[in-house]
Amino acid sequence: MLGGSITVPASPCSHAPARSVSPWVGGAGTAGAVAVVGAGKMGLPLAAQFASHGWNVTAVDINPAVVDAINAGQSHVGEEPGLAELVARVHAEGRLHATTDAAAAARASDVVVLIVPVMLDEDHKPDYRYMDPAVASITPGIHEGITVVFETTLPIGDTRRRFAPALEAESGLKAGSDFFVAFSPERLFSGAVLANLAAYPKLVGGIGAASTDRAAAFYASVLDAEVVAMSSSEAAEFSKLADTTYRDVNIALANEFAQAADLWGVDVQEVIAAANSQPYSHIHQPGIGVGGHCIPVYPHLLLSRAPGLRLVETAREVNDGQTGRALAALSGLLGGLSGAPVLVLGITYREGVKELAYSRAIPLIAALRETGADVAAYDPLLDDAEIGRLGATPWHWGDPGPFRAVITQTGDRRFLALDPAWFPDLAVVYDGRNSLRMLALPQGVTYLGVGVQAATRARPA
Ligand SMILES: NC(=O)c1ccc[n+]([C@@H]2O[C@H](COP(=O)([O-])OP(=O)(O)OC[C@H]3O[C@@H](n4cnc5c(N)ncnc54)[C@H](O)[C@@H]3O)[C@@H](O)[C@H]2O)c1
Repeated sequence: MLGGSITVPASPCSHAPARSVSPWVGGAGTAGAVAVVGAGKMGLPLAAQFASHGWNVTAVDINPAVVDAINAGQSHVGEEPGLAELVARVHAEGRLHATTDAAAAARASDVVVLIVPVMLDEDHKPDYRYMDPAVASITPGIHEGITVVFETTLPIGDTRRRFAPALEAESGLKAGSDFFVAFSPERLFSGAVLANLAAYPKLVGGIGAASTDRAAAFYASVLDAEVVAMSSSEAAEFSKLADTTYRDVNIALANEFAQAADLWGVDVQEVIAAANSQPYSHIHQPGIGVGGHCIPVYPHLLLSRAPGLRLVETAREVNDGQTGRALAALSGLLGGLSGAPVLVLGITYREGVKELAYSRAIPLIAALRETGADVAAYDPLLDDAEIGRLGATPWHWGDPGPFRAVITQTGDRRFLALDPAWFPDLAVVYDGRNSLRMLALPQGVTYLGVGVQAATRARPA
């Protein structure tokens, strides 16, 4: 039991073939034309899903290579089971094509779904460098009856206050009555997107009842999972921030439990599994840090609209402090890190997903370099140039090396095949995801987990 996760069963598709209509006005059993703006890791699977339910889909992207790939029937998104086949099929059936012309796509569509990133600037404030131009690009195509849905995670209030007025500006039409605007959070997990689409309830909140109804009708026609109509766009925006911030705070708590477990020489994973046998306990797992462009980002989007939430702020500090704690532990064991050859394994924010956004490996490598350590790194998903750009020397799996310390930053199962004989000077393995507890280490090599110690790790997790 690893922390309160539940399995939502996939719903088999029970839609009869849809009847194509124009304009589409929300009728059951009908399909129209939809534009998906931002055909990236989330947008492309959405586009393919919509097309597989009878909609005519235009994928809009500013990257011509993305547009060309889709127009050739190819998925440019790797590591997503079933996506390449689905893109090829719906493209061959003539229901998916791509363009860079957002205004024309919106003009020809009944529904526009926006799924371009909103990120953070250097002060942890929302950075709209992609979303504002995306909204501006569809604005000339706004017409009576169109439904615009934001799936990108947004700060509370943005759908109504920032974007609905921007969409109204050129057309002179009134959002909420002449056309419809809603928020529907994208909650999918990279690597399982198509399976999640069939299982996760779809939350929909409009800027008014008419917008909620029209957007909910759209999702009911393209998704097999339950569609949940919410009372407002703000409630829907908040729900995504609440879900992700909860996870960040939960992990911070697990990280503090790990510190207490180290203090007492107790295995934190044993403690968490036992605690979670109580059905109301859902403690997550500790680790060397929280990365990716979701969990570390969204608490800041919440704080941008609700400043001073102390638990939320503290959780961010605790989780970002995990790399410093790892280095302090290593430095203590090695008598300082200056000049020490150190190997970091797992550089993407998590195993199996080629995404470096907010990966904790980046500050980890930077901090190691600051101490004067000689840093090498390896990730099965990155090439030498990508590793080199992060300031580390590429290491190749199986090469001998002078490393005194190995740190894992992802829980990739293949790291269990590491052979300590490759590194004759190895003194310590820092297991940043507690995934190497079964790794055999020769005498004289110290194992350090996050709340798991050399003496307790032999117990299977
Ligand atoms: N990736 C995830 O795991 C995940 C999970 C849940 C939700 N989300 C949400 O999805 C959003 C998008 O994430 P993603 O992983 O698909 O991002 P991505 O970087 O893979 O894709 C974004 C795409 O948008 C395109 N783009 C940027 N500006 C544009 C513009 N003005 N007009 C048209 N296209 C533009 C880019 O070229 C790119 O292809 C995130 O910000 C988040 O809110 C992501």
